[in-house]
Amino acid sequence: MQDKKILFVCLGNICRSPAAEAITKKYLTDENLQDKIFVDSAGTAGYHIGQTADPRMIKHASARGYTLDHIARKFSAAKDFPEFDYIITMDNQNFEDIKSLDHINKFSNKIFKMADFCRNIKIEEVPDPYYEGAAGFENVLDILEDGCKGIIEKLKNNALN
Ligand code: 4NP
Repeated sequence: MQDKKILFVCLGNICRSPAAEAITKKYLTDENLQDKIFVDSAGTAGYHIGQTADPRMIKHASARGYTLDHIARKFSAAKDFPEFDYIITMDNQNFEDIKSLDHINKFSNKIFKMADFCRNIKIEEVPDPYYEGAAGFENVLDILEDGCKGIIEKLKNNALN
């Protein structure tokens, strides 16, 4: 497996993308691959910069064994496009927002949708759970577990490109 850097992106960087980060880190650690793949997350919006993850997501994720310790930050086109190999967006708006920051399509081969890595759950995008109840957070975690497993399988086969 090649050394790579993954950045997960959602809107606020307090629910979906820090959960994807924590799930991927746990799966990598379980396979002793944590030193091969650097994982981070960011938001397209800056509403929650400097904050820990949403307490609802922390609660639902920790019940499944994931530790959310990320501090929210905003996506930086200047730094993140060159630094990361895979920029994996949660919903279609996040995807379009990141694409629109790549003015001359220099980094378009790095920009992905999480839904495309899901192998069991067939969805178009990872829905925003912010205004949802407990079931919304559980649904997001089900989707992210499926997608993060798909990402790691592709990385192990050097087939993520
Ligand atoms: P996230 O969820 O994009 O998965 O972190 C949201 C967090 C905050 C808001 C919306 C979605 N908000 O409107 O503040």
